[in-house]
Parts: sequence; structure tokens; C-alpha cells
Amino acid sequence: TIAFWNGDYLPLDEIRVSPLDRGFLFADGLYEVAAAYQGRLFEPQAHIRRLQRGLAELRIDTGWSDADWLTLMEEMLRRSGLQGDQAVYIQVTRGASTSRGHAFPAGVKPTVFAMPSALKRPPESWRSGGVAAITTPDIRWSRCDLKTVGLLGSVLAQQKAVEQGVVDAIQLRDGLVTEGAATNVFVVRDGAIATPKADHRILPGITRAVVLEIAAEAGTPVAERDVAANELATADEVWITSTSKEVTAVTRIDGRPVGTGKPGPVWTAIDARFQQRIG
Ligand code: PDD
Repeated sequence: TIAFWNGDYLPLDEIRVSPLDRGFLFADGLYEVAAAYQGRLFEPQAHIRRLQRGLAELRIDTGWSDADWLTLMEEMLRRSGLQGDQAVYIQVTRGASTSRGHAFPAGVKPTVFAMPSALKRPPESWRSGGVAAITTPDIRWSRCDLKTVGLLGSVLAQQKAVEQGVVDAIQLRDGLVTEGAATNVFVVRDGAIATPKADHRILPGITRAVVLEIAAEAGTPVAERDVAANELATADEVWITSTSKEVTAVTRIDGRPVGTGKPGPVWTAIDARFQQRIG
């Protein structure tokens, strides 16, 4: 695999990271994951906007323009040598300092890394039967709107899901649904869609934004609002969304069926439009 490392394109296994890199010592950095279907990037501008906003919030100044990020993503696809659908991973850290200290070091250059991979799309069984999930307390911090590489909360949530043989862990904070381990969550009741509003408690997912757009186009009532934890039990449908999981129906939560226990009609309609968008 050819990866990007601070201006160079190198074999991934030749890249060496300094132990003084702020990403390694403090998780002081951000990442992005974008999909490309048959060589075409999906919503690249939205990914770039989210990355640039995060970098500005963390005051990491790369000097890179939106066009520079787009070129990087396209170069990754071009050089990967992969056929078919791909994912591009980008990571930016504050850079490698000369000593360890929490506050921003002076005069460091941000570390910029990117790598391509094959995109693993949802298997047919997820589309026909949906997936199971558990709920778990959201133990993360208060700036979940930033896509930081400090992912321990998500790591522990995802591991808990794996150990219970399910696909995702829906996180709950103060009696509200926040998001999955690495997905956004939607609920449907009586034909109306709702999803937690995009504030500091969740990542503003690109897939989430596309689903909101599609729902509006389809004329389906849709609200961004607080979603109470107990709405998961009374919903007709629950979905999770992300770059790699697309729009996936959750048909069992904590061992109990959601609605009929099968992917519902609103999911079917929205997913059909989503597949057209990426197709
Ligand atoms: N995860 N919420 C969290 C906490 C996430 O980590 C992600 C994405 C999402 C969905 O965002 P999007 O639709 O932009 O992919 C929501 C990526 C894919 C990852 O960590 O690999």
C-alpha cells in the first residue's frame, strides 16, 4: 500500500512515527474516513469541511486549502492500485515536539498522514435482516463533534458489542441517545424520522447529513432533536449510519426486536435513494 506521509508517497510499512508525535503522546489530532465508489469520492467537500472546521477548533494550522485536501484524496485513490470501492483515511496531528508537555509546543509542523484501503460494504445479510445492537453508557468527553483520534470510548463500546456478538453499541448519555460506537442513530415512529441534533454530543456524520437531505427530498417528516433512550424500545425502526455501514437497519436492541424485527418500509425507501446517490 502506498501512503502519504508529510509530503511524500511511501510504502505504508516504511513510515515511522516519532514517539514525540503529539498524536502518539496526547491523541492530539484529527482524522477523516471518506468512501469512493468505483473511483468516485462520495461527498468529498463535506469531509473536507468537517476536517478544516476541526483543525480550526483545535488550532492546528496545516496551511492546506480545501483543494489541497481534495488532491490528496484523489492521489490516494490513484496510487492505491486497488480496484473497486475504496476508503481514504486521513490523519492530522499537531506534530512531533522536542519534549513532552501538555500545552501546544512552539514551532512544530503538523503531521499529515493518509492511506487508502478497500471499502468493506455492508453484507447482503445486513440488508435483508438488519443487525443487532446493544446499548451502553456514553463514557466519552464533551467535544464529540470533533473527529479526534482519541477514540478510547468508541473502542471500548465497539469491543463490548463484539463480545456480545452484535454489530454496534448505541451510546446513552443523561437518558438520551447520542450515537453508535462509530455511527449516527436514527429512529422512526409512525412514519416520522428523528435523529439527535448535531451538537457537542455527537459527530456530525456525513452519511447522517445525506440521509437528512434524502428524507426531506422524499417528503418524509424528519426532526433533529433530543431522542430519549426509551424511544429505542418504542420505535418502529432504528437505523445506524456511517461511511462504511451506509444506512443499516437495527432490528434487535439488547436482545429485543425493534418493531417487527425486520428492516422497515421507511428504511427501504430511504436506502433505495441512498443507493442511488452512491451508485
Ligand atoms: N466513523 N459517529 C462517530 C462517533 C463516528 O466515528 C462516525 C464515523 C460516525 C459517522 O460519520 P460518517 O457518516 O461521516 O462516516 C458517527 C468512521 C467511519 C470511523 O471511525 O471509521
